[in-house]
Amino acid sequence: MTTFARATCGELTADRVGGQADIRGWVNSTRDHGGLIFVDVRDRFGITQTVFDPSSSPAAAEAASRLRSEDVIAVRGVIRRRPTGTENNALATGEIEIAGTDVDVLNRSLTPPFPIHGDEDIDENLRMKYRFLDLRRPKLQRNIALRHRALKTVRDYLDSRGFLEIETPMLIKQTPEGARDFLVPSRLHPGTFYALPQSPQLFKQILMVAGFHRYFQIARCFRDEASRADRQPEFTQIDIEMTFPTQEDVIELTEGMFARMFGEALGIEVPTPFPRLTFAESMERFGVDKPDLRFGMELADYGPAFENTEFKIFASALAEGKRIIGIVDDGGASRSRREFDALVATAQELGAKGLAWIAFGADGVKTSLPKPALTDSALAAIRRIGGAKDGDAVLLVADAPSTALAIAGQLRLQVATAKGLRDPKRFEFCWVLDFPLFERDSETGALGPMHHPFTAPAAGYESLEGDPLLLRAQHYDVVLNGSELGSGSIRIHDPEMQRKIFRLLGYTDEQVEARFGFLLDALSYGAPPHGGIAPGVDRIIQMMVGADSIREVIAFPKNQRFQDVMIDAPSTVEPELLRELRIKVEPPR
Ligand code: AMO
Repeated sequence: MTTFARATCGELTADRVGGQADIRGWVNSTRDHGGLIFVDVRDRFGITQTVFDPSSSPAAAEAASRLRSEDVIAVRGVIRRRPTGTENNALATGEIEIAGTDVDVLNRSLTPPFPIHGDEDIDENLRMKYRFLDLRRPKLQRNIALRHRALKTVRDYLDSRGFLEIETPMLIKQTPEGARDFLVPSRLHPGTFYALPQSPQLFKQILMVAGFHRYFQIARCFRDEASRADRQPEFTQIDIEMTFPTQEDVIELTEGMFARMFGEALGIEVPTPFPRLTFAESMERFGVDKPDLRFGMELADYGPAFENTEFKIFASALAEGKRIIGIVDDGGASRSRREFDALVATAQELGAKGLAWIAFGADGVKTSLPKPALTDSALAAIRRIGGAKDGDAVLLVADAPSTALAIAGQLRLQVATAKGLRDPKRFEFCWVLDFPLFERDSETGALGPMHHPFTAPAAGYESLEGDPLLLRAQHYDVVLNGSELGSGSIRIHDPEMQRKIFRLLGYTDEQVEARFGFLLDALSYGAPPHGGIAPGVDRIIQMMVGADSIREVIAFPKNQRFQDVMIDAPSTVEPELLRELRIKVEPPR
């Protein structure tokens, strides 16, 4: 009896010609060419062409002719070279085919609601409902495999640096990471709730107190926050914590990790060390705390060019302490008036009251400003400040300082996107350092932590006596191409300092005891200095593969409304279950 060697659909190449093979997978496509039946068989590893000849294998050819897309089959036959001129260089198996002698149908498939091969755009809700088919598509198979590969390098790297992977619980009490918690009712303790972790923050700190020194976890986190393209209600972090670190230690470890991930999973060399900016510098130069360094177009302060301006709007803006922030639009002088109008509309959508533009064209200066605003000395200053050349335009936003910077920063990104300057294949990492420790809530005015309340201030205990808004934190963000990939800090290890921070944040002693008593206890028993970081896995992989959405790199994501339409979650539950939990649900309003 002939033995057929089992093979994947991606491994048979010309050096196996003459051998027998048994491959299994899905019917990718079928074709009938003058009686010969061609069936492309697909699995995760590739596609192999099989051919059935009715003159030599009539039963197999007859069975093959009845196959339909996505049927699951086993094919046995002889590996042979494809006739000259019919090879497919795009496939690893493109030089060979299997002359099929047998085909077994292991399972039939209904007609799929969308094609599995090809990269065409398919309605996302349909893809989500049939995620098992969507995931069969080569692009998603590649994304999920890359995710595995990248996380494997992370595990190996952190293991080699002495880190232990330790699981922390999912059913916990609130962690203040700035979002709402998902709550899980307790049946055994009616009326009480667990919270799902927004991150393992406090457990990782406690693991340091417990003497594990170097911890990591590929950790699932849950946050009930507003939906955005780069967010999911559950997502994954590479959560890291270590004892006795300086900020430099965490930065060096993290840079090494990214270099290894990108090197081994993607074959891309990431130069280290990454450039560093302070928070203040980043806001001033880019208008955001997560700068995209793939292109220039940095913001500049054009106030000095308008110091003695007769243009009332700018003169009174400057008198009121507002700022005039602008960018140089390279080659922008060739824009038509209509294109400038569109830029003005974009700025207004971003919240600007208006946008002034000055175009240094070959045929003279054109501008949206009234001519008296632009004396020769003003024009010279405008050119000097941003380095505008002939043919460039300058775009200006006048507003309260932080608003002007933020709007100009957004405009910078939009102009760069339109010009194709944000190449997804380029990777420009950086660190943003020296963040403020606290910020005021723009709506309530309440003082809150800029990140979380466990971050150590940059200076000692006495520094806490001054204006809290002036305090700096030992906090660092790692940023890639304008996205925050991860953030971390050196933590507070002194229980008195932690109490003081809670007090500054307006917690009463009772609230602190009830919510964080365990942390203060832990800090009181010889807590070593510690710190760490948590890069978000989903965003990293999204950027590695250049996907538009984080959903493209998660096997089973929630849709844009944070629902899973395949399993229909969230959904109502049986009244009996609610009774057991002693929960009453009000009808939706
Ligand atoms: P932070 O809240 O900044 O820090 O989160 C760290 C990183 O997690 C990712 N991330 C998300 N990814 C997808 N969907 C979301 N909803 C989402 N929210 C956050 C981002 C982010 O940079 N405990 C601290 C870390 C520390 O201090 O060590 C923390 O969770 O990539």
